[in-house]
Amino acid sequence: MSSILKNFKNIKKIDFMFNFDENIQRENTRALKLERRKMLFDREDVLPLWVADMDFAAPPAVQKAIKDRANHPIYGYTVRPTDFFDSIKNWQSKRYNWQIENSWIEFSPGVVPSLGLAIQAFTQPGEGVIIQPPVYPPFFAAEKDFNRKVVENNLIETPRGYEIDFDQFEELAADPNNKLFLLCHPHNPVGRVWREDELRKMGEICVRHNVIIVSDEIHCDLLLFGNKHIPMASISKEIAEITITCMAPSKTFNLAGLSTAYIIVSNNELLKAMRAQIFGLHLNMGNTFGPLALEAAYNHSEDWLDELINYLEGNIQFVDEFLKTHLPDVKLIMPEATYLLWLDFRAWGMRSIDLRQFMSKNAGLGLNDGRSFGKEGEGFMRLNVASPRATIETALHQLHEASKQR
Ligand SMILES: Cc1ncc(COP(=O)(O)O)c(C=O)c1O
Repeated sequence: MSSILKNFKNIKKIDFMFNFDENIQRENTRALKLERRKMLFDREDVLPLWVADMDFAAPPAVQKAIKDRANHPIYGYTVRPTDFFDSIKNWQSKRYNWQIENSWIEFSPGVVPSLGLAIQAFTQPGEGVIIQPPVYPPFFAAEKDFNRKVVENNLIETPRGYEIDFDQFEELAADPNNKLFLLCHPHNPVGRVWREDELRKMGEICVRHNVIIVSDEIHCDLLLFGNKHIPMASISKEIAEITITCMAPSKTFNLAGLSTAYIIVSNNELLKAMRAQIFGLHLNMGNTFGPLALEAAYNHSEDWLDELINYLEGNIQFVDEFLKTHLPDVKLIMPEATYLLWLDFRAWGMRSIDLRQFMSKNAGLGLNDGRSFGKEGEGFMRLNVASPRATIETALHQLHEASKQR
């Protein structure tokens, strides 16, 4: 154990079966996280702690499923058998006590593609799409990619954490031009897992005003510190009727490069409209490896996920203690889910543009600029802690050293 880590006594220690401490080199693997450094940070050598994938090996069962299939030399068109749908159905049942039917599930090549397809299926150009910034940047794309109007129901910062402005949400939902709500649950970047009462309130408002809910639940398996995820569509039959749930194994099991996600929709009319989009572009064809990886993950990798969550909690506690000890002006918004930390640097009084430059030039860190999540992100940075603890330790050291020259 390194000198710094030794001083942090409260970091959780358990006996791991899987080695999340292993420093796996990602050079020459065409990893976006590494290859885009020059373009984004103007330096090839920043420590890349930005885009949401992990520096950990995927679970052994997933690796085996992919290798076994790769050994067969023909990679032609593929189908997804009942096993694929059963794996998803069972996952929802065992993780969220959500009972779904195989017929409600459709494959999608990604969650962001699902959001775009839903926008095209259920809104017309010029119509409003409600989002809750600061939020994952592609949520803003409804405007520039699809010529819809992005309508902002900004989250409110409170001493208890980020909360929803329900009065404004109802006002926006009541505007007949606003047809669709993009919910981020758990929320990236603020890390909130919305509670049942919050979900019910948002859902009932949308039911009252005929607003369709597209619920991006991609981070739902990465629950920290005992938090529980409740799928929006599981709250009530009425809410399920207006909800398209978007999920994937990609964040949970580090499979983002396999381009495999799915939607769950119990309302047949909404599902038909989504399928028209997906089939129209032949996106349902999918790829050979992703569905096999999903099945291996959902059916045989829960022990790996339990350990991953423990390890991530340890990393987050480490960041929290380090900041409190060495950089008390920098505030960590404690996440309830995800491995993405929302760090508040506003006490440093730097404009976002300068903060961003400081991170790459002075601290040698490639972090996400808070401003890319909306204007509410001014003065924040997002740090991805899904890396070996030693890497996180190095990053914090670099930040601490650089902060002395501010
Ligand atoms: C909230 C959210 N939705 C979607 C995605 C990406 O999904 P996909 O790669 O399946 O398009 C991310 C990735 O970080 C995310 O944070």
